[in-house]
Amino acid sequence: MRIALFLLRLLPPEISHSIALNSLNFLHKFNLTSILFPYENSSESFEFKGLIFKNKLGIAAGLDKNGDFIDSLGALGFGFIEVGTVTPLAQPGNPKPRIFRFPNQGAIVNKLGFNNKGVDYLVKKIKLRNFNGILGVNIGANKTSEGQKRVDDYIECFKKVCPYADYITVNISSPNTPNLRSLHKQENFLPLFEALNLARIEKQYHKPIFIKLSPDEDEQIITGIIEAIKKFEFDGVITSNTTIEKDNLRYSGRSNLEGGLSGKPLLEKSNELLKLTHSYAPNLLKIGVGGVDSKESFNSKLDKGASLVQIYTSFIYHGPKIVAKLLR
Ligand SMILES: Cc1cc2nc3c(=O)[nH]c(=O)nc-3n(C[C@H](O)[C@H](O)[C@H](O)COP(=O)(O)O)c2cc1C
Repeated sequence: MRIALFLLRLLPPEISHSIALNSLNFLHKFNLTSILFPYENSSESFEFKGLIFKNKLGIAAGLDKNGDFIDSLGALGFGFIEVGTVTPLAQPGNPKPRIFRFPNQGAIVNKLGFNNKGVDYLVKKIKLRNFNGILGVNIGANKTSEGQKRVDDYIECFKKVCPYADYITVNISSPNTPNLRSLHKQENFLPLFEALNLARIEKQYHKPIFIKLSPDEDEQIITGIIEAIKKFEFDGVITSNTTIEKDNLRYSGRSNLEGGLSGKPLLEKSNELLKLTHSYAPNLLKIGVGGVDSKESFNSKLDKGASLVQIYTSFIYHGPKIVAKLLR
């Protein structure tokens, strides 16, 4: 396993991610995943709005954008899987290279820009899944959509995925789609939230809706969003997406490193946002994500008010064995 991870690290990040995930699918076809990567589910289960999460650890959005790996990720022991971010139309994302690894710091910087195969493809994959754990779908807008068209994109995704999703995450916080984070401003999130609320009523969707937040906004902005989440009776927040601040990252060679930073250097910042949201909204569900790579960092999220925890970067660096480590 160590050798495989070492060899994969020699390849460009996107190629190695793709090889690793496709190998996982291959192993899963022969029922080898749970034999090679056993995990002991001693972690507590969790119930929310009638959904049973068999444990509190999930895979964060972005790893399986198109729903191609749901069953094999599920077989690794994750209590829930969030697929996406998905947009109405397929789009290629930003030009490569767009993922930069910092293994010594347990960090990644990415500027992918919602590369995905579009919502219709994702729905097809979701319908084919065997995974019977909790499946969340993370929705967004196409890069060129602005104003009302941007709101319409979220609603189109919402309506198409809601029959199949156990929860829906509204991603307003990716730093890699121009202007997306402007959805943290009241004049932009209110029309979006109103439209989501109407779509939820029209579709009689009674499962949870979560809003995924940026760790780079100030307290006033965050509390404004929380008030609106409460007003529309959405269910919770995911704290947090990546940060554009690179102060915690040691790097040279690229003076202007664009994109969102994830992994260890994000732990503290995402925990601050988690603490803040918990203090303003103790009754909203919080999913803590950002920098979890050990039992200690996992527990730090629970201690600060998260009911559930997700990982992304540590899965890239440590592979499937991180699941057993965190659930032990
Ligand atoms: C390569 C990469 C792609 C990502 N893509 C998405 C995405 O499509 N949608 C999203 O909401 N978050 C995305 N994220 C953010 C993660 O879901 C997560 O919020 C963030 O990486 C912090 O968790 P971590 O420190 O465990 O990686 C992405 C992260 C990475 C590293």
